Parts: sequence; C-alpha cells; structure tokens
Amino acid sequence: MNTVLITGASAGFGLETAKLFLSKGWRVVAGMRSPREDLLPASDRLEIVKLDVTDPDSIKAAVEQAGPIDVLVNNAGIGWMNAVEGTPMKTMRSLFETNLFGPVAMMQAVLPQMRERRAGVIVNVSSSVTLKPLPLLSAYTASKAALNALTEVSALELSAFDIRVRIVLPGRAPTTGFGDAARARIQQQGGFPEPYMPVVKAAFDGWAQESEAEVTQAADVAEAVWQAATDVASPLRIPAGADAVALSG
Ligand SMILES: NC(=O)c1ccc[n+]([C@@H]2O[C@H](COP(=O)([O-])OP(=O)(O)OC[C@H]3O[C@@H](n4cnc5c(N)ncnc54)[C@H](OP(=O)(O)O)[C@@H]3O)[C@@H](O)[C@H]2O)c1
Repeated sequence: MNTVLITGASAGFGLETAKLFLSKGWRVVAGMRSPREDLLPASDRLEIVKLDVTDPDSIKAAVEQAGPIDVLVNNAGIGWMNAVEGTPMKTMRSLFETNLFGPVAMMQAVLPQMRERRAGVIVNVSSSVTLKPLPLLSAYTASKAALNALTEVSALELSAFDIRVRIVLPGRAPTTGFGDAARARIQQQGGFPEPYMPVVKAAFDGWAQESEAEVTQAADVAEAVWQAATDVASPLRIPAGADAVALSG
C-alpha cells in the first residue's frame, strides 16, 4: 500500500488532499501542528502526526512515526501581504521559515529513505503568484519563487535516484482560511504603512474586479497533487485551478 505524508493537513488544500488520497486507498500520514482526530474520516489507513515544519525535533519524530513514505506533499504554508517597506524582517524571515526552509527540512528528512529505495515523489505546493507579479505580495512571492527554484534544481539531482519532484501552483482560493489568517497577521503587525494606502487601494480595487468564477477550489489542488504523485508523465510544474491554468497558458 502506498503512503503519502502531507504537511498542513488540518485545513484547506492539505485536508482536501488527505481526503482524496484516503478515498483512493492510500495510507495517509496527516501532519498537523495541533493534531485533531475529527477532521478526516476514521480509517485504519490514516495516521495523524504532530508536525510543525519549522521545528526540527517535530520533523524528526513525525518522519520516524510515519515509516516508509512514497510521496511527500509539502503543503503547509503561510501568507502575508504588504509593501517591502511594511514587512518587518521578522515577518520576512517567518515566511521563508515556513514556506521555504520547512519544505527543505522535510525533503532532507525523507530523502535518505527514498534514495535507498530508489523510489519516491516530492510534491511542493507553491503558488500561481510566481507566474505573475502582484503588488504587496513581494515577501510571499519571493518565498514561493525560491521554493520553485529549489524544486527545479533538486529535480535534476534526484532523477539520478529515480525520485520524482513536482511543483503544484494553485491559484487564488478564497474558500480556504489562508486569506483570513494572512489578514489577521497583517492587522496584528500594524497594517499597511500610510504612504502606501493609494497602492493598497489600487491593488484591492483591481482584485475586486477580477471574475469570481476564475478561482481555485481545494479540490483542484488535491487533484493536481494526485496527478503529481501518480502520473510519471506529469509536467514538473502543474497549475491547479482555473485562474492558475489561465496564467500558465
Ligand atoms: N489559499 C490560497 O489562495 C493559496 C493560493 C496559492 C497557494 N497557496 C498555498 O497552498 C498551501 C495551503 O494553503 P491553504 O489555502 O490550504 O491554507 P490554510 O487553509 O491556511 O492551511 C494552511 C495549513 O498549513 C498549516 N501550517 C501553517 N504553518 C505551519 C507550520 N509551521 N507547520 C506545519 N503546518 C503549518 C496550517 O496549520 P494550522 O491549522 O496549525 O494553522 C494549515 O494546516 C500553502 O502553502 C499556501 O501558501 C494557497
């Protein structure tokens, strides 16, 4: 039976991906910062592990608990929106800790076993913001663009060990809690700097005019991760959601 380890499986894309892999008969190791048994359907193929991707001890314990892993899905991530000037260095670093160094640490934790078995797939969940620059998203976009670059280079190295690597690029998904969490973080940290308010207004006006039909659903991302995990012919970069597909075309 194949096993997938998914980070950030308590909500949004990660939770939907865990549900999809469970429904397909896989063993699912669902990584959560605060483990909860009530989020996923009960199954003897489901294991919930405590996992914070910024904590090396937590990563070590979770990977040991998981046992042999066929597919790692680096899904956990955090958002942020502000001008470069309005982004405290602490916040900049925390975005890179979760969105880039977390996936790197997870890769380093599972690669020895995949290399030994000469098999495995790493799926890194990035973002369609890396396909088109958007105002106020510099820090977040930089963390995901660095993840794309790292993933692309690692694909060259890891093909020597028959390990596949894929990048899933979701579009904007207003239905997950991602935007609300980012907005709360911005408010906690003082909001937007006053001189940038015209830039903020223009950006929000632009987004308000975008078609609500062209958004990404959690199911789109789960399907893209499934394709990345199971289709050896899938491309290195897989857009997920109508808006991401339109951007990548
Ligand atoms: N939603 C979008 O519009 C969108 C678009 C493109 C890409 N993405 C990317 O897609 C991924 C999932 O987003 P989502 O929309 O599903 O967000 P979400 O609903 O906010 O879920 C994020 C998940 O990541 C977890 N997480 C955050 N920090 C973590 C850490 N240090 N260690 C382990 N888990 C952590 C959260 O756990 P807690 O429950 O403990 O907070 C949660 O399970 C992220 O990488 C995000 O950057 C999102």
